[in-house]
Amino acid sequence: MDRVSENELIDLSKIQFKKIFNYEAQLGSIAPGRINIIGEHTDYNLGLAMPQAINRWVCTLISKRDDNNINIYSSAFKKLIATNLDRISSGKENWEKYILGVVKALDDKINIKNGFDIFIGGNISIGAGISSSAALEVSIVLSIYKMINKKIDKIKVLEICNYVEKKYLGINSGMLDQYASLFSHRDKIMIIDFSTLNHEYFKFDIENASWVLVNSMVYRELVTSKYNERVEECKKGLDIINKNKENKKQINEINEIDLSKLESHELYYKRLLHVISENKRVKMMKDAMLSKNVHLIGKLLNESHASLFQNYEVSCDEIESIIRISKEQCGFYGGRIMGGGFGGCTINLVEKSKVNSFIKNVEKHFFTKYNCKVAIGCVNFSKGAFTFNN
Ligand code: GLA
Repeated sequence: MDRVSENELIDLSKIQFKKIFNYEAQLGSIAPGRINIIGEHTDYNLGLAMPQAINRWVCTLISKRDDNNINIYSSAFKKLIATNLDRISSGKENWEKYILGVVKALDDKINIKNGFDIFIGGNISIGAGISSSAALEVSIVLSIYKMINKKIDKIKVLEICNYVEKKYLGINSGMLDQYASLFSHRDKIMIIDFSTLNHEYFKFDIENASWVLVNSMVYRELVTSKYNERVEECKKGLDIINKNKENKKQINEINEIDLSKLESHELYYKRLLHVISENKRVKMMKDAMLSKNVHLIGKLLNESHASLFQNYEVSCDEIESIIRISKEQCGFYGGRIMGGGFGGCTINLVEKSKVNSFIKNVEKHFFTKYNCKVAIGCVNFSKGAFTFNN
């Protein structure tokens, strides 16, 4: 499943739908996972980010039923959930909560009317920080929308997914992952401004360098991580800055002078210092990419990592080892921890001719230290989510 194209994945999923439900699916959708070049923990702070969909997807096949029953099969968990539109169950495991949360939210908002059979397949590693859960949510929303002939408004899809994460999973997440899954272009880079929920694209072709993902295999889930704590710390820092002010600022509007108000609140100071410096790095990254300055791109990645490690404190020992080993490799321009943090992947820019030796050496040194094999490879971009008829 590692190197399948989206069409191959769709074909495989159709076959599996038929095996499970004994008839052909009517339609479906596919939604990609994402990397994030830069702009980490900026989304829920209404800042900027530069994510990109990758060639790993969740694929959902669906068929309307004549009754109110809902049957959901997950190929990743090899489990069938049976429920009913009249009383949609909540699910015990987190992956069930994502799926059933989406179904409930849609039913509350748009009244689904008919039951359905749904097969969920895909090839996104779970817990690696490449947004398997966001792709899962997006894919289910799109399939159900298409099944009931509802016009797809991508911003509404974002809002539904965000609502599900808050209400059913208790995660106060931003919209980075779902945005990337819905709006990415295969051959253009996207910058999102979360203060306006707008984005722009720009072209970036580098012939001599590749993006390489290194998965530390430290499994992380937003639900159990300190993610919500970070969201809260940023809010508290902002409240102190805005105290007794008539014109309250958002985090994306604060500057170094505002930050100086946090000098006696070291923790909040560090958190917000990360956010405002990361926002600046997103802007600088665009310029560095447009001028194809691989050394500057690498420097910005390294600075982002240092800030996530020291100020935002979302790294871990395994990731620090990967960064240290990576920095010793020939052809390494720069890299950083990616996504929510506390494990998952690093994203790195590596000289193309040195990619093979980079992969070999990072694997070898990490194995020597942890007796564990990292998953490592070059990233290929993908276009955003779409629906299809069978
Ligand atoms: C996770 C969240 C995103 C975002 C990133 C950090 O992936 O789901 O909303 O906050 O962490 O940038």
